[in-house]
This record gives sequence, C-alpha cells and structure tokens, in this order.
Amino acid sequence: MCKEVVTQGFSAPLKGEILTPPDKSMSHRSLIIGSLTQGKIKISNFLTGADCLATLEILKELGCETEFLDKNTVVLNAQNAYSAPKKELYCGNSGTTMRLMTGLLCAQNFKSTLSGDISLSKRPMKRIIEPLSLMGASIKSNEGKAPLIIEQGKLNGIEYKSPIASAQVKSALLLAGLQTSNGATTVLEPHLSRNHTEKMLKFFGADIQTFTKNGLFGVTARHSSLVPKDLNVVGDISSAAFIMVAAAIIKGSDVILKNVGLNPTRTGLIDVMKHMKANIEVLNCDLVSNEEIGDIRIKYSPDMEGCEIGGEIIPRLIDEIPIIALLATQAKGTTIIKDAGDLKNKESDRIACVERELRKFGAQIEGTDDGFIIEGKNCGNGLFKGDTEIESYHDHRIAMTGYIAGLISKKPCRINGFEWVETSFPDFLNIFENLKK
Ligand code: S3P
Repeated sequence: MCKEVVTQGFSAPLKGEILTPPDKSMSHRSLIIGSLTQGKIKISNFLTGADCLATLEILKELGCETEFLDKNTVVLNAQNAYSAPKKELYCGNSGTTMRLMTGLLCAQNFKSTLSGDISLSKRPMKRIIEPLSLMGASIKSNEGKAPLIIEQGKLNGIEYKSPIASAQVKSALLLAGLQTSNGATTVLEPHLSRNHTEKMLKFFGADIQTFTKNGLFGVTARHSSLVPKDLNVVGDISSAAFIMVAAAIIKGSDVILKNVGLNPTRTGLIDVMKHMKANIEVLNCDLVSNEEIGDIRIKYSPDMEGCEIGGEIIPRLIDEIPIIALLATQAKGTTIIKDAGDLKNKESDRIACVERELRKFGAQIEGTDDGFIIEGKNCGNGLFKGDTEIESYHDHRIAMTGYIAGLISKKPCRINGFEWVETSFPDFLNIFENLKK
C-alpha cells in the first residue's frame, strides 16, 4: 500500500532517550546462520521489518518453524532444515536475503528459485553467481539478475579475491563454503566489509579464521557443524544514523540512543561526525552475542565542518551515505564523498536519487561517478525552503533522508513512497513523534 508522509516545516528540538531499533544485517543472519545449527534457538531483539520477514518466510518454506513470543522475540526451530520448497522463494526488496540465501541454497540437493521485487530484480547478482559458480554451484539468472534458479551442484572450496568490499558477497561464499567438506573457502577483500557473518559463525562454533595478507582482509571457512545457542541482536547503527543526523542539525536537540551496535566495521558515521565537529559521545560500551554495543549521546551541532570521505571508511558507512549527504549540507565548507560507486547498485541508484531529491530542497549537491561534492552552509539558518515533493524510488533510506530534510525546511514537504521505510525501520515515525514532544 502506498503511503505519503508530510512534514510540517521546522521541527521542534528532538529530546529524550530511545532504544535503538534492532539491526537488520544481524537479524537476517540470526535466522540464516541459526538455521545452519539445525537446532532450536531463541532470537531476542529481532527486527520485524519487511526485509527480515522475507528471510523468515523463506526459511519456513525450507522446513524451519518459527514462533514469535512477542514482537521482537522469535524462536527458530531448524530441526527439519532444509526441505525442497514448493514455491518460488520471494526476497521482496532485500538484497541481503537474496545474496545470502543463494550461498546457503547452492549447497542443497534440491532446486530452488529466488525472486524479488522490481528494485531487487534490477540489482547485480553476478558478483555472487561468478564466485559461487567457481565453487561448483549451478545458478541460472536473467543476465546476471533475479530470478535466480539454483540447482544441485557439487561444491568445492576456493580462494576468492573479491574486487569489491561486500559483506553480501563474502557471506554468500562463506555460507556455501561451510557446507562443503571438499576444501576450505577463503575470501579476500580490499577493505574490511561488515563482519557480522564471521562473528556470528564463530559465536555458533564454526571453524572460521580471519587474517590480513598483502594489505587484503581475509577470512577462511571450513566445513563445520554449528551448535545451537540463543542470541541477542544489537541495535542498528544504520537506523540510529537518521536520529543522530537529525539531532545534530535540528536546533536545541539532545538525544541518547541506547544499545547501538558498535561493531567497528559499521561505525564510520561516528568517526565522520566526530571529524566534522559534531557534539557526539559514545558511552557505556559492552559486548552482546560477540558484538560491541554502547549508547550514543548526540546534541545539536552548529559548528560542523565539511570533510573528505573515501577509502577504507566507505564500507564502514556505506548505508549511511544518503543521510551523510544531508548532514554535509549543514556543515560549513565542502564535503567530498568518493570511492562509493557501488551506491548505484543499492535499492535505488543512490548517487542519482540523493542528488535529485536533495536539490529539490535547495541543497548544493553534485553527484559524481563515485560519490558527491556538497557545498554546506551554517546549521540551523533555514537553508531549506521546503514546499516540495520527494520520491523514494523503492528505497527506505531515500524516504527517511527526505523526511529528515523536511524537518529542517521552512515549509511542509511531502514524501511519497514512505511505505518502503517498513523494510528496515517500521517504528521510524513513532520514534520521531516521541522525540519531538
Ligand atoms: C549488507 C551489506 C551491504 C549493505 C547492505 C547490508 C549486509 O551491502 O549495503 O545494506 O547485511 O551484508 P554490500 O555487501 O552489497 O556492500
């Protein structure tokens, strides 16, 4: 169902403390990797967003049972995993579902088909088809795109040097590699992408080694059986990002985000905000289910300065770039974002779409081949005129970025396609309404 949201011009300050919504990447993995244990596990703080529910439905079709004890606690029983699906496995909007499930399914002795919505059907799948085929997988596609038809293959381990730092590629290969006794599987990447798969596999007792070699980041998976264990998902820094940026750019704001996942492969935004002179503090650090967590306090930050963002930090903040682009419009001077060409392959072409939509607000932003050049101004001076209509392009992060831009605009803004926010952050509007009170 289509949903429009209208922001009402300059927002009241955001104030208060909120529990960060559950992490999407970890929620997917808790089900997928949890199912490899072939046992029963309780997953707490699971994200019931549309993307993770797509993964859950697929695992049910493959013979797993699930029971929700409450909205965010699910018991996964994978004792009968995996059986041949009776229908197509629909991944919706979720690239993580499609790419990770391909890795899992290519080791099974049955045929399966993975399909997706209009956005996912346009996204590149060659990046997993090629290396998985080198491992012996049999995957047919529509010229490198979904639907993917996976047939029984005989897998062997490989060493694969990935041209891109992609956690989805790495995870697909590790999930396939774990299921073959025919050699180890090693993935090498140019920068370290998010490592939740490696960490969670270790949590469940898999034989996983991580290392660096000739400036590359490597991980090796060997055939292993996993031990069922209950797991807690941490808060999603990629969802927190929208609140962090909103608090930094809305006059008078002061917000504490509790239970934010602080895995260093995800914390690029914190580094960038500190570098830009935002008022941000990290407190109460701890470890939960082998993942770092902590609280973040963020206050209105009128003295932010632009900066250059590129290289190893890009995979550590790849999903935050749309909202960082908005942040940069409110920081003095120029911000250059580079080495982020893969943004074109996300739920939308995020370079073109962010440029187009932020320009509607009056932002000075230019998309480049691999990022943006943004000319910022002083915070809180009513930079944005508003009175505009934003499109979401089937992309939750564009919709949420449009909403935050609306909060610093003089006049109301309409955001079309707000239903896409359900994929990762179903409580988004509630949380903002509460912080504005
Ligand atoms: C994800 C990995 C990243 C990220 C995506 C989630 C994951 O994609 O952009 O939102 O959960 O593994 P890539 O692996 O394509 O970089």
